[in-house]
Amino acid sequence: MEVKIKMKRWYISLFIIGILIFSASASFQKELPKIEKNTFTSAKVCGECHVEIYKLWKNSLHAMSIEDPIFQTAYIIAFKNTNGETKILCIRCHAPITYFNKDYDLKQEITKEGITCDFCHSVTGVDFKNKDNPFKLEPGLTKNGPLGGLLSPVHKTRRLKLFETSEFCGACHDYTDPNGVTLLGTYSEWKAGPYAKDGIQCQDCHMPRKEGAIVSADVKKSKVKLINDHNIQGGHSIDQVKKAIRVEIKDVKRYPDKLRVSVDVTNAGSGHMVPTGTPSRKIVLDVTVKTTTGQLLKEQRVYKKTLVGAGGMEFTKDSDAMCNKSVITSDNRIKPKETRREGFIFYIPQDVAVTVTAQAIYQYNPEIIQQTDISIEMGKDEKVSR
Ligand code: HEC
Ligand code: HEC
Ligand code: HEC
Ligand code: HEC
Ligand code: HEC
Repeated sequence: MEVKIKMKRWYISLFIIGILIFSASASFQKELPKIEKNTFTSAKVCGECHVEIYKLWKNSLHAMSIEDPIFQTAYIIAFKNTNGETKILCIRCHAPITYFNKDYDLKQEITKEGITCDFCHSVTGVDFKNKDNPFKLEPGLTKNGPLGGLLSPVHKTRRLKLFETSEFCGACHDYTDPNGVTLLGTYSEWKAGPYAKDGIQCQDCHMPRKEGAIVSADVKKSKVKLINDHNIQGGHSIDQVKKAIRVEIKDVKRYPDKLRVSVDVTNAGSGHMVPTGTPSRKIVLDVTVKTTTGQLLKEQRVYKKTLVGAGGMEFTKDSDAMCNKSVITSDNRIKPKETRREGFIFYIPQDVAVTVTAQAIYQYNPEIIQQTDISIEMGKDEKVSR
């Protein structure tokens, strides 16, 4: 008799403990951010745990690929000039969630996030031959990345080698139009150059690993101590641009009536041509000679890809170059690790002392629809009291 009752109590208390554990874990789960099944989740959700990576990404051009006023301006002009024909083309790369939801009018919040976390981390394959749809996407509960073997309370993880290769970036950073003209060639320039041969990928230069927390400590005490810089810097970063070109005056030769300056321009730090990217960018090499008598002489060399339209007119705006039939009439951009020797003649007599300066300048003057300042004086009152 005694024993039976004791047994019952034991069962009951075990049952109660069970309920307690269950409800505790249920309420814990409720507080966790929700990852969507079979579709894309907002960057804000990822950012609740991946706090540092979110901050880096949020300040990048990838996060602004739709809001970016330079893109917006070119897009509006291209849209107008082609009666909307270029819509899908432009939006695809700048708001890639549209590969999945076809929301080309940008009605959904997730589409407007541009090149968002969950787009990149749902990519499981890239097929360059399929130009209209190069990405294999598997959105949902598994997030792909470079590490593997990690446990997260809200999603599974899977390691894919693809994340550490240039192919991952290449499907967006290369565009050849239907006439076979390469308008955006960053990936193919890299592929043809010395960095690809040495196995140095886009990520090595644009997403270097640095100390940081992969997730905030209240989510998990992680063993991972390095994160990739998701701020991905390029032509909009002064530091990055300065790394690219080295300029060296090799020789200043004097003749009775003139002087000859030789300058070496080297693409020392860029993994692709300089300049690269959309066609309107150029590098200008300025060589100036200043005499002790106060004279200032200047010569220039310009490095760029020249696109010419049907009427023989050069396209200087990206919006024109991207959506009109064109041919490349010249391309003297500097290849990765290439050194270009340039010569300049200045007519200054031998007996005048001179200072020679050579400087490369990155020039990019994109169109931006001017913001109008609105300032309207509203109800006002004034009183003078003595
Ligand atoms: C343009 C694509 C892209 C976007 C956008 C992007 N990532 Fe990544 N992410 C990568 C790549 C590529 C790597 C691996 C780089 C490597 O290993 O060389 C990576 C690595 C990671 C890792 C592993 C740790 C690390 O840093 O190596 C985490 C976690 C991660 N990303 C989370 C995020 C989150 C969260 C966001 C949004 C706030 C985000 N990513 C946005 C491409 C992207
Ligand atoms: C509840 C917190 C939480 C949320 C929300 C979250 N993650 Fe994670 N994530 C983690 C944890 C924890 C890890 C593993 C970290 C470790 O073990 O070092 C992880 C790992 C990762 C990795 C690394 C995978 C690898 O093997 O390289 C990627 C990529 C990633 N998350 C992407 C995302 C993306 C994209 C989102 C938003 C759609 C997201 N995460 C939302 C907690 C979270
Ligand atoms: C889904 C398409 C897509 C993918 C994938 C992608 N990018 Fe981009 N990237 C873009 C677009 C679009 C922009 C331009 C955004 C804007 O300014 O409007 C951009 C901008 C950039 C810039 C320019 C930043 C600046 O300061 O000028 C760099 C650098 C860059 N991406 C590197 C990478 C690297 C490295 C990868 C691979 C890890 C990658 N991207 C993957 C579409 C993509
Ligand atoms: C050896 C390092 C290195 C490698 C590898 C590299 N880049 Fe760059 N990248 C740079 C530097 C430095 C700049 C800044 C100067 C410039 O604009 O070329 C830059 C600029 C850029 C820009 C901005 C162009 C502009 O003028 O705004 C984009 C986009 C870009 N890289 C994408 C890529 C992609 C995609 C890959 C891989 C296919 C890649 N890069 C490989 C170093 C590198
Ligand atoms: C194949 C993918 C792709 C397509 C298609 C595409 N873009 Fe882009 N776009 C990019 C990438 C990648 C960049 C990043 C910077 C670079 O390489 O110059 C970019 C950059 C830009 C920039 C410069 C942004 C800045 O801040 O400097 C403009 C403007 C632009 N694109 C307009 C357009 C327009 C308009 C269309 C449609 C006619 C279009 N793009 C179609 C991938 C694409």
